[in-house]
Amino acid sequence: MRTVFWQDGTVRLIDQTRLPSEFVILACHDWREVAEAIRTMKLRGAPAIGVAAAYGLALAARQSQAATPAALLADLEDAAAGLRATRPTAVNLAWALERMLRRALHPSPNRGGEGGEVAAIQTALLAEAEQMADEDVATNRRMGAHGATLIPDGARILTHCNTGALATVDYGTALGVMRTVHEQGKRLHVWVDETRPYLQGARLTAWELQQLGIPFTLITDNMAGHFMQRGQVDMVFVGGDRVAANGDTANKIGTYGLAVLAQAHGLPFYVVVPTSTIDLTIPDGAHIPIEERSPEEVTHFRGLRIAPDGVAAAHPAFDVTPQRLITAIVTERGIVRPPLDSNLRAIVEKRP
Ligand code: MRU
Repeated sequence: MRTVFWQDGTVRLIDQTRLPSEFVILACHDWREVAEAIRTMKLRGAPAIGVAAAYGLALAARQSQAATPAALLADLEDAAAGLRATRPTAVNLAWALERMLRRALHPSPNRGGEGGEVAAIQTALLAEAEQMADEDVATNRRMGAHGATLIPDGARILTHCNTGALATVDYGTALGVMRTVHEQGKRLHVWVDETRPYLQGARLTAWELQQLGIPFTLITDNMAGHFMQRGQVDMVFVGGDRVAANGDTANKIGTYGLAVLAQAHGLPFYVVVPTSTIDLTIPDGAHIPIEERSPEEVTHFRGLRIAPDGVAAAHPAFDVTPQRLITAIVTERGIVRPPLDSNLRAIVEKRP
């Protein structure tokens, strides 16, 4: 099943905060509920956030009482601003909303009349969101096929956070590559970082790999260096939330440390992202906005205090891995190798 989908006039999503103990589908009847689900990480992962926001805008169009296209567009701009503000780092969010707003300006041929034009925009926006969802799955499968060529039989791969079906509409990015390798009948073993403080690795990646029957070992984040030093890791595969024009990549906090460790041990470090995650408008990682989340997410776990009352804590949700530490970036259009700046631009600007 898909992580996010449209059903009976509502946006449905798997509530990832309840996993792995409970599998609950949430129904959002208002675009503000979609925004809240993204902000509170009921749905997370860059590609999934983008498509959820697109469905959220389709919902906003349906909810609107606007009688004219101009009034509807104003309502859509408001909803897009609310959705865009939920999580600043994942560029897929802004990318998806811009694509939806463009579509609202140019809906398919309508049947004339002002009311008809409003209905045409509403119909076009839902169709666009559905298309983006389908494209996401197809894109992930293509990345899987490209990425799998980098993985020999019997590889031991370390990964961070969750980049699987749950982080996308379906199939996944970096985890999708491992899934393809498994489907090809090659053997692999995955080292799964638990990913403090939200535990996307322990809760979500472990849950997905278990269902797929892919062998894995769950480790805490601070164990990665130990297993690399012992020669038990062959390569690192991660996803990304925003790739700058020069290849610097923002991903879940802790990714940068893994890249440094990989380099220290001579291991390849691969990033798997759809081209919608590549932001050519910013020159390098220093320009990527890093989301600061509540310190309570560090001092507490599911409401349980794990640090003394009143301590200062920080929670940058992402860090930036400099391009010099990245061996290659896998996209749906192929594998991009250094020099990443010119090669990324070429692959993004190439017609699909
Ligand atoms: O805070 P999250 O869980 O949304 O962070 C997710 C990640 O960092 C993923 O690695 C990234 O979005 C790529 S997922 C396909």
